[in-house]
Parts: sequence; C-alpha cells; structure tokens
Amino acid sequence: MDLGLLERVVIISGAGRGIGRVTALTFAQEGARVVVCDVDLEAAQQVVGEIEAAGGAGMASRCDVRDESQVQSVVNEAIARFGRVDVMVNNAGISKDVSLLKMTEEQWDWVMDVNVKGSFHFCRAVLPSMRENKWGRIINLSSRSMFGNPGQTNYTASKMAIIGFTRSLSLEQARHGITVNSVAPGFVETEGMKGLEIYPRLREMALAKNPVGFLGEPKDIAGMITFLASEQARYVTGTNVLVTGGRFSS
Ligand SMILES: NC(=O)c1ccc[n+]([C@@H]2O[C@H](COP(=O)([O-])OP(=O)(O)OC[C@H]3O[C@@H](n4cnc5c(N)ncnc54)[C@H](O)[C@@H]3O)[C@@H](O)[C@H]2O)c1
Repeated sequence: MDLGLLERVVIISGAGRGIGRVTALTFAQEGARVVVCDVDLEAAQQVVGEIEAAGGAGMASRCDVRDESQVQSVVNEAIARFGRVDVMVNNAGISKDVSLLKMTEEQWDWVMDVNVKGSFHFCRAVLPSMRENKWGRIINLSSRSMFGNPGQTNYTASKMAIIGFTRSLSLEQARHGITVNSVAPGFVETEGMKGLEIYPRLREMALAKNPVGFLGEPKDIAGMITFLASEQARYVTGTNVLVTGGRFSS
C-alpha cells in the first residue's frame, strides 16, 4: 500500500531515540523528509545520519519542547529547508514517577510542560503552514497509562490531557484538511523505559497482563503513526488509537 508520504515534510519531537527514532526512520523509508528534533542534539544528528546513509533526507534540530521560541525556530528552519510542514508528531515525553504525597511541584510541572505544553507549542507553530496548504496531519502521543497507574498521577493527567487536546483541536481544524489524532502505546521497550528504576518489575507485569503474550516494539507504534499520517487516513480524526496488544486497563 502506498501511504502517499513521498516528499511529505515531517517534524518529530523527541526523535533522538526510542519510538520517535524508529518513527523517523519509518517516515524516511516512505520517502518523507524528516526533521528530527530532540533536546539531545547529538542523538538527533545520529538519527539523521542513519536516514541519510539509507538514501533519505533529514535534518537534525536541537529543541526543548517546553520553550516556545525554540519550537518556533525548528518550524522556521524546517520551512526554510523543505518549504512547508505537512506532518507533526508530538512524541517527546517524559515521566517522573512518584506517589502524589511525595511529588514535588517541579516533578508535576516538568511532566505537564513536556507532555502537554510541548504539543501546544508545536501545534501552534505548524498550523499556519498546514492551513496555507489545506493539508496536515498531527499525531500526539498519549499512553495506555491514561487509564491510571499508581505513582503516575502527573504522567496519567498529562496523557489524558493529550486526548482532550486532540479532540478539541481536531474539531477546530477538520474543515481545513487537517486531521488530529493520538496514539496510546502500551508497554514498549525503549531506552526511556529501560532507564526507569522499576523497569524490571514493570516489564514482568506488562508481559503477564498482555493478552497477545508479547511486548510491543517501537516499530509497532511507528506503523500506526505513519498510517495516521497517510492519505488513507483522511477520514480518521479526533480519535485515540490504543496500540497495546489488547491491554487497556491497568
Ligand atoms: N515506551 C513506552 O512504553 C511508552 C508507552 C506509552 C507512551 N509512550 C510515549 O511515547 C513517547 C516516546 O516514548 P519513548 O519510550 O520512546 O521515550 P524515550 O525516553 O526513549 O525517548 C524520548 C525522547 O524525548 C526526548 N526529550 C525529553 N524531553 C524533551 C524535551 N523537553 N524536548 C525535546 N525532547 C525531549 C529525549 O531526549 C528522548 O530522545 C513519549 O511521549 C511517551 O510518553 C511510551
């Protein structure tokens, strides 16, 4: 199936590793031009190196999604280099897990700022280009954790917020040829996951509870994101797609 992504201009936040990295490589394989944005510039450059080594086109950009001016600069650079923005994948996300009574305001704000405000900044920055071209795809990363996990009040709140944000924005943009959807992955083994103190216990629990009997890989999420960015998905908007191997509750 031709996804119609040839020469589409795609920005992916937090694409230096994990789900974002594999999503960037997948878009590049489809012939898209990929702006790999991450707070870790070296990681972003490595991903662009992989894209170029495979014959694709990409650009690395350092950006902290919490900072509106840095986000705007990435979008300006993307437009200067590739002419427009067609697809935005708001993938950058973090967790700071601790029970509510021990949670600091800084831990709350950090998670909300990266996971929610980052999407707010990027959507505002890319929409003028999409509106001008009457075509656009925005894909935001939520999480199966939106259903609730102990120790994740901040993360859960942020991932539920993404769903409401996605629904409202999809209604605002539907008449402009722009779709807005979210993807909620279940447990996916990434560098971010492996860095968590509770990773071994989480992995064991996720495997035990997973109906399909195996854990998801970044490519499983990348496949759904690229589909939502495709021509074939033009009638899909305002929805949240669970990519969890059948697991939905905690
Ligand atoms: N891995 C999972 O099991 C899982 C499950 C559900 C949802 N998700 C969501 O998927 C997305 C990707 O997850 P992952 O596991 O690949 O994460 P990861 O930690 O492996 O990678 C995240 C990337 O985001 C970058 N980043 C962090 N803060 C940033 C900031 N302020 N500005 C720009 N970049 C920043 C990091 O440098 C890193 O490269 C996140 O939104 C996460 O919440 C992941």
